[in-house]
Amino acid sequence: MTLILEGKTPSKLIREEIKREISEYTAQGLRRPGLAVVLVGNDPASRIYVRNKIKACKEVGMESFFYHLESNVTTEELLDTLAELNAREEVDGILVQLPLPPHIDQNEVIAFINPEKDVDGFHPENMGKLVARMEDGFIPCTPLGIDLLLKHYGIEVKGKDVVIVGEGFIVGRPLSLLMLWRGATVTVCHIHTKDITKFTKEADVLVSATGVPGLIRAEMVKEGAVVIDVGISKVGGRIVGDVDFEAVKEKASAITPVPGGVGPMTVTSLLLNTLKSYRRRMKVHSTSTMKP
Ligand code: GUN
Repeated sequence: MTLILEGKTPSKLIREEIKREISEYTAQGLRRPGLAVVLVGNDPASRIYVRNKIKACKEVGMESFFYHLESNVTTEELLDTLAELNAREEVDGILVQLPLPPHIDQNEVIAFINPEKDVDGFHPENMGKLVARMEDGFIPCTPLGIDLLLKHYGIEVKGKDVVIVGEGFIVGRPLSLLMLWRGATVTVCHIHTKDITKFTKEADVLVSATGVPGLIRAEMVKEGAVVIDVGISKVGGRIVGDVDFEAVKEKASAITPVPGGVGPMTVTSLLLNTLKSYRRRMKVHSTSTMKP
């Protein structure tokens, strides 16, 4: 039987724990953790992601501060908003939804966020801490969500061959570092890889994060592999991943569904990172065993 690695159960458990911890803080008269979410423009997918993040904050008792800027906002104006959020006491986390419109320099914007509030983990200081294996940095939410999902289902990656398809800034690159940290032997395939199948066929754990629907077919997967699908695409009104789920399910020992696999874990990781920032800023100690 193939294990379906659905993310709703572990997400629910972790979010209940977050909610319980926050209620302890508010019972002591402390403020709630706060997350600022900045959306530039009206990309439909980004609007949905942002809405889900704000809803998740509310459900666990976090404050959210939503900033919706016009798509023609200047870099200066966006940085002004971020300066305000960097300074604002009740804001523990700042998330600028990506992608940004092409006229805005994404690197400049990310580098401007106070690294202590960078709950996305994209600031060069936090990316550097991921390389240096410094526990006090923020790990980007999708890689952290995959790590927590694997842990929940008791899947150990130490000593395993992990193959990641996609070397993007949000998932592939930081995930490769996190998997190395966890003791895996990591291969990253990308657009210039000559023969992806040569690598995917050998993977004990195969992760695809490309946004190309149906890219991973059954013949590319080793019998008994663990398959993690990070893709989210809309095809004919349906949300699908990178993996041909029905065919690959027959070969894999475990596989994530899309939707309902990695997605909920990513949002849960954002909440965990925001709580981590709050604890540090408020100088309170966790009563829980959760370690983002
Ligand atoms: N766009 C797609 N994924 C993400 C993410 O994890 N964080 C941000 N800020 N934008 C995204």
